[in-house]
Amino acid sequence: MAYAAFRSIGAYAPSKILSNDELSSMVDTSDEWITKRTGIKERRIAAADEFTSDMGAKAAQKAIERSGIDKSEIDMVVCATISPDYFCMPSTATIISTKLGLENVTAFDISAACTGFVYVLSIAKAFIESGMKKNVLIIGAEKLSAITDYTDRGTCILFGDGAGAAIISATDNKDEAIIDVHTGADGQFADLLMSPNGGSGSAHDTLNQEATSCFMQMKGNETFKVAVKTLTKDVVDILKDNNIAGSDIKYFVPHQANLRIIKAVGDALKLEDEQVVITVEKYGNTSGASIPMAINDIYENGMLKAGELMLLDAFGGGLTWGSALVPFSPLEKK
Ligand code: ACO
Repeated sequence: MAYAAFRSIGAYAPSKILSNDELSSMVDTSDEWITKRTGIKERRIAAADEFTSDMGAKAAQKAIERSGIDKSEIDMVVCATISPDYFCMPSTATIISTKLGLENVTAFDISAACTGFVYVLSIAKAFIESGMKKNVLIIGAEKLSAITDYTDRGTCILFGDGAGAAIISATDNKDEAIIDVHTGADGQFADLLMSPNGGSGSAHDTLNQEATSCFMQMKGNETFKVAVKTLTKDVVDILKDNNIAGSDIKYFVPHQANLRIIKAVGDALKLEDEQVVITVEKYGNTSGASIPMAINDIYENGMLKAGELMLLDAFGGGLTWGSALVPFSPLEKK
């Protein structure tokens, strides 16, 4: 049986920084409120002509270069995004594939909001273990600024743009393999976090359509409570199922939505501060891109070494959730 190994990571953040002070001149908020309630100090905003696929392609290019795998060997591309270049078609994954010059690939997007990266990881693992694919490029890429209402102080302070990508490859060596991925969903809580307009479910007259925005709406406080509970349960379950203790984890890489949520989950699990990876202060919530951007940070800082075990944990609109136990398994340099 083939196993799936997490070979490499790459990320991209646009250069424009939107600070809390700048947001305070746009809506009734303050640096003090945002910092205290969320931990966010700034977020990145893509240029008007910079699309989700551009950011995804830049992150993917780095992941490919670092993987030691030739791009001609990549046979599948899956992109997690809720802010695709085009809402119906083509998929952002196909656009990214073309921008990278990839040929003979299966390419598609998935929609699982902030849990997107854990979902694409589970898809890559399943395709590889079944023998259908050998080298899968997974991407989380978001231009959330395109679907954020900058008159709504309850949401616009949270979100930012960026992308992260990883190469997942077949291996015979079980020690290198992704140990487990859990994913879940519950549509009963769909209204906590949604983009109610712009799709076939919105209440506009389909024969006389006007342009409708896809702005995100969120019941922040209710979402917060469900997030802490779900993220904690996710991790407890996956550790227990695999007989692994919290102290065996080198890095806990949670979805970066709110510093208070991350700290509450870390405390519930009795993790040490140095185990918990935090990037929310500089990127805000980049939805499906947040976990790979955070992994890329510890990689580029020289903190993430071959063989170290990461515990990923995500929660988002849908509702969706997921967790994963992932050793970092770069190819040995030949
Ligand atoms: N600046 C100043 N005041 C504000 C702001 C703001 N930006 N936003 C809200 N307030 C006010 C509210 O109006 C309210 O005022 P009131 O007491 O007079 O009514 C007060 O602050 C408290 O509002 P809450 O919504 O209760 O604030 P809370 O402490 O819950 O923080 C936040 C809000 C930051 C949104 C938090 O609830 C949160 O992070 N929620 C979870 C987000 C999340 O995890 N989302 C899931 C993933 S995202 C995805 O899937 C795309």
